[in-house]
Amino acid sequence: MQCKNILLSFFLLSAISLTVLAKQPVAWSGVGQGNSRAEELAQQSIAAKSAMQYIRKNILEIKRRSLRTQLLGFIDNPAPTYQLRAVTLEEKKAVLEELRKANLVPETTNVEGIYPPVADPKRGAQSFLAAPGSYYSASYTSAGHHSYPGGLPIHTALNLRVGLAMLRNYKLQYTNSQISPTFLLSSDVVVSAIILHDVMKTLVFQWNDDGSQFLEQQVGTTGTHHVLGLAEQFCRNFPPEVIIATASAHNPPRPGELRKKVVAYLRAAAIIARVDPIKYGVLVETDLGEYDLTLPALAEHFIVHLSDADYFYSEHAAATVVDRIRLLAEKELGWSKAETTGAKFNWLRNTFLSMSTGIAAYQVIIEKGEDRKLLPLLKIAVRKSERLYQ
Ligand SMILES: [Fe+2]
Ligand SMILES: [Fe+2]
Repeated sequence: MQCKNILLSFFLLSAISLTVLAKQPVAWSGVGQGNSRAEELAQQSIAAKSAMQYIRKNILEIKRRSLRTQLLGFIDNPAPTYQLRAVTLEEKKAVLEELRKANLVPETTNVEGIYPPVADPKRGAQSFLAAPGSYYSASYTSAGHHSYPGGLPIHTALNLRVGLAMLRNYKLQYTNSQISPTFLLSSDVVVSAIILHDVMKTLVFQWNDDGSQFLEQQVGTTGTHHVLGLAEQFCRNFPPEVIIATASAHNPPRPGELRKKVVAYLRAAAIIARVDPIKYGVLVETDLGEYDLTLPALAEHFIVHLSDADYFYSEHAAATVVDRIRLLAEKELGWSKAETTGAKFNWLRNTFLSMSTGIAAYQVIIEKGEDRKLLPLLKIAVRKSERLYQ
């Protein structure tokens, strides 16, 4: 009887602890004080959540099972495990020095640029869902593209739709050529590279208490998120062809200066990940003693790059929307000039953009009756952001 009671209590306790565990939010390891607020906003964003679903659906359609598992693992926990390969400050400085000697970082880049702070590198700084698609300046000189909680999945899903459409169209257009009766393109590679191309924005764009974001530094001629994402792919053993395709997102590896840039991204990423890029299979050494990619420029590389072009429109849209809501806050809600800069306004713009997306709100603005349509949404955003930022 006693044994039965003990068992019963054990099951009851397990059930209680499982319920508690299920209700507990994932403990992300970011150190930005605003990360949990961004998480809350993104959890309420219909657009961000449906973008995540679209991304997951496409991962599940990947043919290679191992790749599917790797991708799901990465977006479910975008942990910067590369940081476990240089733990002490001395080790981190040595990596930075190696990058400097190889001419792969500008003088201004420091240890924190390569190793943005996290409490535990085995956990993502924030969720893929909550991360922004880019940086916006708190002085509002740049509105950024998708730079609001939930912006990263929306940006990634749009790229995925564009990339898959291009893939289909390339096949349709060129398959019937007399020279090339089969035009093979790897959708596995395109889908994987697009999904991962900005994944380390979860790390480099953490949210500050005042609603602004961490400042990103540079590796070579590009933002660190690009190279840190490649470094993390090395650490997680992604296939070389996926890593090269992801490295092509900021520019394709067309022979000449553009190809050299892609090679430099991979060299820097390999130094950070502490791997040999030649043994790994992404680079070869040429007869001239230089590095080159192990692959020629492929259609997949151009597709991954060209799919990443929504920033032209979305930056403009976000800038217009932010200007408009600032004006409405002053004119209709009686906010003072001082209130439309700083934390109070930052969280209002983050909330408003997260609810409406920059592009959807822009569509409303360019229609007639804009204020009538925007004002109710703005009032909801004010209430929400005030609750969030107290
Ligand atoms: Fe990027
Ligand atoms: Fe991007």
